[in-house]
Amino acid sequence: MALTPIVWDTIAAMEKIFCVILAAGLGKRLGGDLPKAITETRRGALIDQVLAGLSVLKPEKTVIVVGHKRELVEAHLAKSAAAKGHNIEFAFQDEQLGTGDAVKRALPNLAGCRGTVILSYADHPLFTQATLSHFISYHTFKSSTLSMISFTSPPPNGYGRIVRNRSGDVERITEAKDCNPEELLITEVNSGIYAVDSAFLKPAVESLTNDNAQREYYLTDIVAKAVKEGQRVTAFPLGDAREAAGVNTKRDLDFINSVLAEREIVKLQDSGVNFVDPATCWIDPEVEIEPGALIGPATQLKGRTKIGKNAIIEGSALLIDAQIGENAEVRFGSRIEGATVGEGTTVGPCAHLRPGTVLGKNARVGNFVEVKNAVLADGAKASHLTYLGDCEVGEDTNIGAGTITCNYDGYKKSRTEIGRGVFVGSNSCLVAPVKIGEGALIAAGSVITRDVPQDALALGRAEQSLKEGWAKRRRERLQGRSAGK
Ligand code: UD1
Ligand code: CA
Repeated sequence: MALTPIVWDTIAAMEKIFCVILAAGLGKRLGGDLPKAITETRRGALIDQVLAGLSVLKPEKTVIVVGHKRELVEAHLAKSAAAKGHNIEFAFQDEQLGTGDAVKRALPNLAGCRGTVILSYADHPLFTQATLSHFISYHTFKSSTLSMISFTSPPPNGYGRIVRNRSGDVERITEAKDCNPEELLITEVNSGIYAVDSAFLKPAVESLTNDNAQREYYLTDIVAKAVKEGQRVTAFPLGDAREAAGVNTKRDLDFINSVLAEREIVKLQDSGVNFVDPATCWIDPEVEIEPGALIGPATQLKGRTKIGKNAIIEGSALLIDAQIGENAEVRFGSRIEGATVGEGTTVGPCAHLRPGTVLGKNARVGNFVEVKNAVLADGAKASHLTYLGDCEVGEDTNIGAGTITCNYDGYKKSRTEIGRGVFVGSNSCLVAPVKIGEGALIAAGSVITRDVPQDALALGRAEQSLKEGWAKRRRERLQGRSAGK
């Protein structure tokens, strides 16, 4: 749970905070040869996520320990918005000798800094601001010299085990490779985030040795050191263990992205957006949805899509760079790209709005209608089975079922202009370029090749002929033939 801003402000005023982020690693298992810290997630690079989380602590200074291709990390951060609020300094670790060695590289940058130092990793991007501020408050109120965020992981895999004494106090962290069989069973593990008193940190890190299974300088050894000195050490248990997730593989990255996506949806829900089944929705980070909107199952909202207040997206929809107005309704199974849907307009089920489509207010585009590069004014309707391409449709005009704007002659595209209040009868072809004047009526089944003036009737089909009694005579003839067989 997040602390109230008042509690947090008190703590921030009590203690100066300094951050160290270990970012010397290379993302080999992520497929490239870029520093892992600048690997992109759906919301910016890993290091940007970490900086965004830590920014809640308002650190005086943030030291980033870089190694492989440090210039790429530095260039990234020079442009990163997440880095803006931080007073960043870089430290350099040329060889990866362990987490303890990495922190040692940052000590010169911390010379003269008095307060609490937060140690963290660039490849652990999910710690929330709420968790981090709660953690530091816990550390401060417990008057601890050293605290770490711990979590429970059955099975505990390769994580460092939090070893406690009989009274339940933290005694040390033992790395998996150094554990005895009993220690291997411990499921409380180290997340890798620490809060350490600056006065303790420097001598503790300087005295680390690499006398262990991996011949590494383990940062974790500062825990036993603090306990031996009689300093207070506490572990802050994480409520949601997913926050401790790190990134080594592409699968890890997918996991990080799915958690970030879920958080974005929660944020939308908190702002008043309704989801029927959020787990089946994919919402791109740039998408904006106004309160009161309802998003049905299996909806993908991509690019710079905007959904207006109280709009309904019924479900199984794909919207790319779409603008959906207030109270509009997109019914089941529609695809909308680069199109604008006006206030109160309904689209679908199973409609296809392609780029350049602009639908006015209270208009209607129904099932199996495709619209491309077309403007339909307020109240215009094309309710069924229609293709409207490269055209304008006037206010309150009704386009009958099966109407086609024939916009392509095999060589070039031409436009169809339909005025206001026009009635286009079903199954008509409007062969562009062609203009239909205001209030005109197109008889069903017409092929319109010439302009139709205002208020005219256009009838572009073969005239109907009638033969009285013909059907009856045929029936009798054929029935007589089959009876004679
Ligand atoms: C570390 C902890 C372990 C904890 C785990 C949580 C130690 C000894 N162990 O183990 O207790 O459970 O994190 O994920 O600290 N790095 C450097 N320079 C180095 C070594 C590491 O910058 O010389 C960076 C890495 O790029 C990475 C982070 O530090 O971002 C953690 O290093 P890693 O080797 O993955 O730590 P673990 O062995 O997993
Ligand atoms: Ca390691």
